[in-house]
Amino acid sequence: MNHNRTTPIELSKDQFRKIGYELIDQISEFNVSMNERPVTYGESPAQLQELLGKGSLPEQGKDAEALLQQATELLFNHSLFNGHPKFLGYITSSATPIGALADLLASSVNPNVGGQILSPIATEIEKQTVQWLAEFIGYNSDCGGILVSGGNMANFTAFLAARTAKAPKSIKEKGMSGLSKELVVYCSKTTHTWIDKASILFGLGSDAVRWIPADEANRMDIDQLEATIKKDLENNSMPIMVIGTAGDVSTGSVDDLDAISKVCKTYNLWFHVDGAYGVPAALVPQYKNLFKGLDQADSIALDPHKWLYSPLEAGCTLVKDPQHLLDTYSSNPEYYNLNHYDHEQNYFEFGLQNSRGFRALKVWLALQQIGRQGYEQMISEDIELSGLLFDLAGKHPELEAVSNNLSITVFRYIPEDSDYDQDYLNELNEELLNTLQLGGEVFLSNAIVKGNYCLRGCIVNFRTSEKDIREIIDIVVRVGRATHDKLKKSLG
Ligand SMILES: Cc1ncc(COP(=O)(O)O)c(C=O)c1O
Repeated sequence: MNHNRTTPIELSKDQFRKIGYELIDQISEFNVSMNERPVTYGESPAQLQELLGKGSLPEQGKDAEALLQQATELLFNHSLFNGHPKFLGYITSSATPIGALADLLASSVNPNVGGQILSPIATEIEKQTVQWLAEFIGYNSDCGGILVSGGNMANFTAFLAARTAKAPKSIKEKGMSGLSKELVVYCSKTTHTWIDKASILFGLGSDAVRWIPADEANRMDIDQLEATIKKDLENNSMPIMVIGTAGDVSTGSVDDLDAISKVCKTYNLWFHVDGAYGVPAALVPQYKNLFKGLDQADSIALDPHKWLYSPLEAGCTLVKDPQHLLDTYSSNPEYYNLNHYDHEQNYFEFGLQNSRGFRALKVWLALQQIGRQGYEQMISEDIELSGLLFDLAGKHPELEAVSNNLSITVFRYIPEDSDYDQDYLNELNEELLNTLQLGGEVFLSNAIVKGNYCLRGCIVNFRTSEKDIREIIDIVVRVGRATHDKLKKSLG
């Protein structure tokens, strides 16, 4: 073996610079020309597979520059762009450009943020990020917390902490088999699908979820919540937690967190808030009151990759008393020699992951680049634009405005020519959404409200402007008419 090892993995300094500069040039152009592209090219999986070919694992290595160029072309010409001003689907934001640079920097240094000794400055940056996120939403900044991959993981992390805190202590060693009572949890029927996964994952089973009905405004019915808890207690079940949603995935409504926190106090239950989407709006003075009671939460899930515009993936769990995370996740294996200072924070003891990437960097940088005022401006504008979409839909004779909460507007297309029954309107709007989603002019998603299939636009997009909203109305009506004509013909 040579003294100086040569491997197929290294790039020379000059090569790295050259390829890196070329890539950065292309990305800077991409960032400012997003609106010149379609939102998506709408290609089928089969078309894309053909593009990649069926070759087997390469035997010999290839030139890095050519590979990166090929990857850039593939991504720029065959992706769906959630950074496009007319992308209003699901809850995926336009990503902060500084976040992309942060990810490059984070992967270059590659700290393992599972142990403080392995990530000295990265751990401190993550701690500060957690503290700033708590401040952002008006939560106790002495709380504990951890960055995770997204909303599901943020809710899972809190769920297991709640189970540890409220179930009999034996659960850690004996699991569910040691319990004489069934553990149950409560949430509104609008709660995101993560709750099913969490109850399955952490051994309660999906039947342990009590789906409390929601009122007209899609908020949890508090009387029903209390009645259900009482009934469970009479039936010898063991309630452990209530989940309030701060911005539900379909319509953006916020539960009465204050009322839920009072019920939790009365029955000694863990109060968790799923604020994955909506909780950043608590920063805006005008909306703060909507989140009254948030400060009472034992834990909160929020998602920088939604309304803080972080690139995927970045979620965060906040826990009022960080000891609950340690009680749940800490262990001291003999093969770790991680403790060198007092008060070290080894993040592997605060959550489900062991080795962890430096996802805090992109959030930490964006919080500073944008600042409280910048976020307040962007979040308020997103809400205003969503209000405009609702108003324009309400004024248009062929659209019905259904709901508007935070930055989510729900509406549907209703043809003018005569009366159609609900089944037809549902089929028409579903077909319309499919056409829009593959068409590339605008990307919306759907919501089912009172059995009606609706179109749904969620604006967590700092590139969307008033002009886009007006154009979206025109596009929906134009494509709505064409879809209606086609559907009428096909049904005879
Ligand atoms: C309220 C709510 N909770 C949780 C999630 C899950 O988040 P993620 O997709 O980041 O896992 C979502 C996703 O839209 C959501 O809206």
